[in-house]
Amino acid sequence: MDMKKMAGDKAAEYVKDGMVLGLGTGSTAFHLVNAVGELVKNGMKLKAIPTSKATEAQACELGIPLLTIDEVEHIDLAIDGVDEIDPQFSAIKGGGGALYREKVVATLADEVIWIMDESKLVDQIGAFHLPVEIAQYGSKQAMKKMEEFGFHPVLRVKEGRTFVTDNGNFIADLHLGAGFDIEDVRQKLGTIVGVLEHGLFLNMCKRMVVGTKDGVKVIENPAK
Ligand code: A5P
Repeated sequence: MDMKKMAGDKAAEYVKDGMVLGLGTGSTAFHLVNAVGELVKNGMKLKAIPTSKATEAQACELGIPLLTIDEVEHIDLAIDGVDEIDPQFSAIKGGGGALYREKVVATLADEVIWIMDESKLVDQIGAFHLPVEIAQYGSKQAMKKMEEFGFHPVLRVKEGRTFVTDNGNFIADLHLGAGFDIEDVRQKLGTIVGVLEHGLFLNMCKRMVVGTKDGVKVIENPAK
């Protein structure tokens, strides 16, 4: 079975009646959203907040009742994919460009579950680029600052055009290399005007649900 589907299906077991649920974005979250659609079809009452226009469209199609982010008081559970995660539960997200909404939703959630195939588990994050959402206005200035910090930013391009997020912003992908100084990068990004959010999701999840060749594994975070 597809390892991403295994993770998405297993994570849906944590969804309970009456929940307000954050629905992630990407090829793994796609399977979760389908599984949640099944739960709704079978009579479960829940409401969901999508983290992207793509997930919103999929959820609408499946008849999952949706709320907007500013309509909710709190979120019970957020389930989403990751690009890389280390044993300390430090993750990089945003490969699909949805990191801003994903972070807003995950931050509001009482509980967070990251779902993935086993390729996402790494000893040290950073081989994958770190996505950073930046405002279009002054984007070259923000890129220059990131260059000066030695972050090797590359403005994301998709199908020959500068990629624009669901929020109307650009994405700078930082090439930091595995084992970069997470705290230093996080702190320096915070000093750059025009940086709206970055794809570092540090120690946010209660558990990881990982699809592997040997079946699905659940890794609990002892710190949560
Ligand atoms: C979307 O912006 C991302 O944060 C995704 O959650 C992440 O890139 C994982 O995507 P896949 O499940 O498609 O690998």
